Amino acid sequence: MSRTWWRGAAIYQVYLRSFADGNGDGCGDLAGLRSRLGYLKDLGIDAVWLNPWYPSPMADGGYDVADYRDIEPVFGTLAEAEAFIAEAHEHGIKVIIDVVPNHSSTASAWFQEALADPRARDRFWFRDEPNGWSSIFGGPAWTQVPDGQWYLHLFAPEQPDLNWDNPEVHREFEDVLRFWFDRGVDGFRVDSAALLVKSDDAYEDLDGVHDVYRRWREIADEYGDERGERVLIGEVWLPDQERFARYLRPDELHTAFNFDFLSCPWDPAELRRVIDLTLATHLPIGAPPTWVLSNHDVTRPVTRYGRADTGFQHGGRLHGSPSDPELGRRRARAAALLAMALPGGVYVYQGEELGLPEVEDLPDEVRQDPMFARSGGANPGRDGCRVPLPWSGEEPPFGFGGPGPSAPPWLPQPEGWRKLTAQAQLADLDSMLTLYRSALRLRRDLLGDGTLTWLPSEAGVLAFRRESGLVCVSNLGPVAVPLPPGELLLASGPVEGGALPPDTTAWVTGGPGPGVSGR
Ligand code: NOJ
Repeated sequence: MSRTWWRGAAIYQVYLRSFADGNGDGCGDLAGLRSRLGYLKDLGIDAVWLNPWYPSPMADGGYDVADYRDIEPVFGTLAEAEAFIAEAHEHGIKVIIDVVPNHSSTASAWFQEALADPRARDRFWFRDEPNGWSSIFGGPAWTQVPDGQWYLHLFAPEQPDLNWDNPEVHREFEDVLRFWFDRGVDGFRVDSAALLVKSDDAYEDLDGVHDVYRRWREIADEYGDERGERVLIGEVWLPDQERFARYLRPDELHTAFNFDFLSCPWDPAELRRVIDLTLATHLPIGAPPTWVLSNHDVTRPVTRYGRADTGFQHGGRLHGSPSDPELGRRRARAAALLAMALPGGVYVYQGEELGLPEVEDLPDEVRQDPMFARSGGANPGRDGCRVPLPWSGEEPPFGFGGPGPSAPPWLPQPEGWRKLTAQAQLADLDSMLTLYRSALRLRRDLLGDGTLTWLPSEAGVLAFRRESGLVCVSNLGPVAVPLPPGELLLASGPVEGGALPPDTTAWVTGGPGPGVSGR
């Protein structure tokens, strides 16, 4: 694989708690992940991104980090993490881990010191008076400690914000990056990347944050070797494209998640607009775009696309409103082939390849996302996209806990998932898993980094050609349209008599036209 592997990579997101449970305690772990590396290799992905695996009280699914240099005991040990990194590399899979620099945990040594000694508070945001900011999870962003001072937490009270005006915070994270680069990781996904630097009246996208990433880029660059470059991927939610692009300057982060695409409704004009905007933002600065349909924070695509309103459904918007599973599945399949054909990198959130729906009927008492409790139940939170994966068998836990007896998974799986297990889908040529496997394999040779050429098409149809000659056609209109000439490589739904039905994407190659290189 090339040094710049990350420019066109397919990256699989592992939410460790819910991926595979190796010791049967009901919670996913490193042993489970290691036992499923063959599955990931066969899926055809280039890298995995793991959500935080550090020791954590789990007030926010591990985004409350108590120690950045160790592994949560429920997940395993540092030695197991090292073994996992080595084994992933043997399978040809790169490893990206999450780093959480905006906030820490109230259980961290630094915060405990700060609580005990007011002179040790400069690593956080302690003030005598709160300033009225609200938490992104709901409620106030300030919590009072027993001696009367208040500390800032943009997320849950268990996640105190770090003070990036303090040089010690910079040194600490530079050292944390080195700690994990020294153990072989191939990159970091940077949590809440635009929030680190703050003033007394603003906390998003302040210019000082770029100095942090310039320094981090130098460190990542030091580690690049024959295995390839080490990569920094930003979680940067900013509506302003010009501000967003600043994070991707050549001496800063390598890539960032495309949240415009993630939140785009299933609408041809809107998708075309977002794709064009994305390309216009990235190509001039030489940064590859990314294409993301889901992650551990948002409604699963098959549920979202099955609704009358397919727009962004963050924060519980439309939770429980009717969703047509067949329509949702058809569109999610079409969207997957579209996303994988676009130039740049693509992300697959675990379970997306199985077509798992959002679990909307979880009992309140099992919900763990702080968004649920902090909104007084008004926001269902994000547990519905975090339900443990079904691997095999006819009833819960569907092989999640490995072959032997195991405790129930930490979130209950729907009975109906028996049809969605990886095992059942491997045997089914029409399954979502078979589609993802076929698409990811073709993508390796024919797609990835580069650019696209739009082709003339009928209303409601998106059609473009890639440098390899592959043509991707998505029909979002109400009636079937003729397929372009050439050999049909793959389609997200049945294609009969040369016609592409509504809500279907096809990949075609070998036809005439500019840029076709043949096969
Ligand atoms: C973004 C993460 O994706 C989300 O899960 C988390 O709750 C917040 N950042 C806070 O760390």
